[in-house]
Amino acid sequence: MTEVGIITISDRASAGEYEDHGGPALRTASEGYGWKVIAEAVVPDDLGKIQATIRAFSAQGCGLILTTGGTGIAARDVTPEAVRGIMRVEIPGFGEAMRMQSLAITPNAILSRSLAAVVDSSLVIALPGKPTGAVECLGFVRGAIDHAVKLALQVPTSC
Ligand code: MTE
Repeated sequence: MTEVGIITISDRASAGEYEDHGGPALRTASEGYGWKVIAEAVVPDDLGKIQATIRAFSAQGCGLILTTGGTGIAARDVTPEAVRGIMRVEIPGFGEAMRMQSLAITPNAILSRSLAAVVDSSLVIALPGKPTGAVECLGFVRGAIDHAVKLALQVPTSC
């Protein structure tokens, strides 16, 4: 069974200024797909904290790590840079499919720099911050996830 880690990336949610809705929405969607959520965290838009949490979740055995938030173009949005700083390879098709299919829902989908990559032995998918958008995007790439998780696992861990 695919074991999932979910990371909400938001300065305000991590400071308790508002309730995290993205993480719970992704948990519900993941469980609906038959996956098991084994780790959850809410972290600020801080490159080092994002990277440390992704690596900790991978070491903990999360074959799939979903992040939500920080994919846009605001000054504090650093999720793509954080993932790219620790990835082995990016999988561009995920970002392409998410943006292409989301554009049929909202023109603002073009503002998301959402992506997927292999980090250590995990597939990491960086989803937009809006809960409905995150769940929609996950659904658009769902068909390739199980196979990608299997391939990511075959990669020997480094460091
Ligand atoms: N994609 C989908 N499917 N649905 C959405 O509502 N919102 C967009 C975009 N992608 C959205 C979406 C908006 S408004 C923004 S600003 C970007 O994702 C980036 O969001 P983030 O910075 O919270 O990750």
